[in-house]
Amino acid sequence: MPRAPTQGTPSMRAHRATFLTSATAPEGFPPETVPEVAFAGRSNVGKSSLINALTGVKGLARTSGTPGRTRLLNWFEVQPQSGPALRFVDLPGYGYAKVSKEMRKGFGVLIERFVTERGALRAVVVIVDARRGAEAEEEELVRWLEQAGRRVVVALTKADKLAKAQRRPAAAELKRRLRLAREPVLFSATSLDGVDELWHALLAAARD
Ligand code: GTP
Ligand code: MG
Repeated sequence: MPRAPTQGTPSMRAHRATFLTSATAPEGFPPETVPEVAFAGRSNVGKSSLINALTGVKGLARTSGTPGRTRLLNWFEVQPQSGPALRFVDLPGYGYAKVSKEMRKGFGVLIERFVTERGALRAVVVIVDARRGAEAEEEELVRWLEQAGRRVVVALTKADKLAKAQRRPAAAELKRRLRLAREPVLFSATSLDGVDELWHALLAAARD
């Protein structure tokens, strides 16, 4: 199959995407009947916006200018344009200083249980801000996911905030810094650059 262009109007939006459920504790995780792809990254990095851009459903995942808004795990039923259904899981952001230590610990345990125990989880998309690049937290997250045996797809988002000439070098630097096997996907929820490329990468990871 020829690779779809990564710029301009994406061709890969979901056929259908709807909210399924939220959970604040492992007891609330839905039954593992459908393969899942989770989205992880620092608070305010653009996880929810990326999910909305991928599915093409505005407002599906709640976005906010206030870091740390998504404090639950949120599941979305996603029917890709072809092939079996998937679920997207929007994970709470990490590294948000304004939530209490107790709360941070709580999120950590929830995410840890999800990442280490979830049988339906096929891949985790790690989202990095193109202007910040990877810091220690991103590196720790990637290594931890790999140790847990998870497939990792890295997306460098808010690419629209970088000048065009800076984008490929930023991706190359992130690949080096995180010791990735593949270049990260340059992505923008604003321009929709990278939507098709990220779909290809996550479908390949999810169906492998
Ligand atoms: P939490 O759930 O709070 O951890 O945040 P999040 O990672 O889900 O981020 P969210 O999608 O809510 O976006 C945070 C802010 O970044 C919002 O103001 C978005 O409009 C903005 N944003 C997200 N993606 C992009 C992007 O690709 N480009 C630009 N310019 N802004 C973006
Ligand atoms: Mg969010």
